[in-house]
Amino acid sequence: MGTNTMTNLETYLSNFSESDWNAAIASLLPCIHEVDKNAVQIWFRFYPLSLMRTIESAEDRDATLHGFAMQGDFELKNNIDTSHHFLYGHRYWPAVKAAIEAEAAVFTDQTHDLAEEVKQIGMLVAEKLKVERPLVNAIVAVGLATLNQVGLEAFQAALGTVKTIVGIMAKSPDAVIAERAKDDSQGLFGFLKTVNQRYTVTYDNLRNTSKFPIMNDQEIATASAKHMTGKFKEEDDRCWEGVVPVECLSASCGTCWVGVLGGQEKLTEVTPRERRAMKVFGYVDSDEPKPFIRLACQAKASGNISIVIPPWNAVFGKKIYGNVDELTLEPATTSAKVLRETIASAASGE
Ligand code: FES
Repeated sequence: MGTNTMTNLETYLSNFSESDWNAAIASLLPCIHEVDKNAVQIWFRFYPLSLMRTIESAEDRDATLHGFAMQGDFELKNNIDTSHHFLYGHRYWPAVKAAIEAEAAVFTDQTHDLAEEVKQIGMLVAEKLKVERPLVNAIVAVGLATLNQVGLEAFQAALGTVKTIVGIMAKSPDAVIAERAKDDSQGLFGFLKTVNQRYTVTYDNLRNTSKFPIMNDQEIATASAKHMTGKFKEEDDRCWEGVVPVECLSASCGTCWVGVLGGQEKLTEVTPRERRAMKVFGYVDSDEPKPFIRLACQAKASGNISIVIPPWNAVFGKKIYGNVDELTLEPATTSAKVLRETIASAASGE
């Protein structure tokens, strides 16, 4: 939060816990367009309020981050204009940001329901932009949650620009949904194929080129490891083997978590090990057989899928949610991290 006195809107937002936000999103889902239903829930997992508050209030921030084995860029305040790039509603961000700033200047009612607050701002933005309300509610919720986490000063200081919308996301919302649901053709006699079916993982819907092939029943991380083109290594040093960051490849480290924007039904069901690991890491506590957050080293595909890769990973389930026992996952037999360090030291002649 900024050092200035909080506005009424910030004070109001600060009253809600992470579960209040999740409950508000759940109640808003019927008023959110299908194209952003998974995306908005994924965003709230990528920027969990309890974790951010714990880090914010830590006496020894470095020790806290170390305790969580934090890797990557988790700071929302560095990514105010971009954290939501995978939402269809990202394109409405300039208007949403302006509407939230205007609301902060006049807000007085402290008794509002959080979902109602989202809908009211969504209505104003939808009218201004002449788009359907369900298309803006998700990005408004993200905007208010961002304001809550970063404070008005930082929120206003962000430029309010958006990434250029190209590729699949340049299409209509319904076309995006249809595109995500489609599987690659298996050729003229594909229906006879029982092996060697090939599909596609799309990992950045803003660019047509951000895809890699995946074989039927292959783990997302295994397929990603063969995809070594592009600048992802320079952009994210966790990506040493393909675009999806990995370490252990055995559900023990939490590095490879991804959000599933489309095709979650085409992934294998969560195994007890993956479910338990996700709880230990703190990413999601769900009984869904095929949830929208998965470990890429565990989930296997049987069709085209669209994913989004979070910019950070950590292990915080016990500390933040307190609903898991000590970390009792067996360590990976061959840690990719050890392998990577061995390769690096061999290359440097040590
Ligand atoms: S790579 Fe470690 S949990 Fe998947």
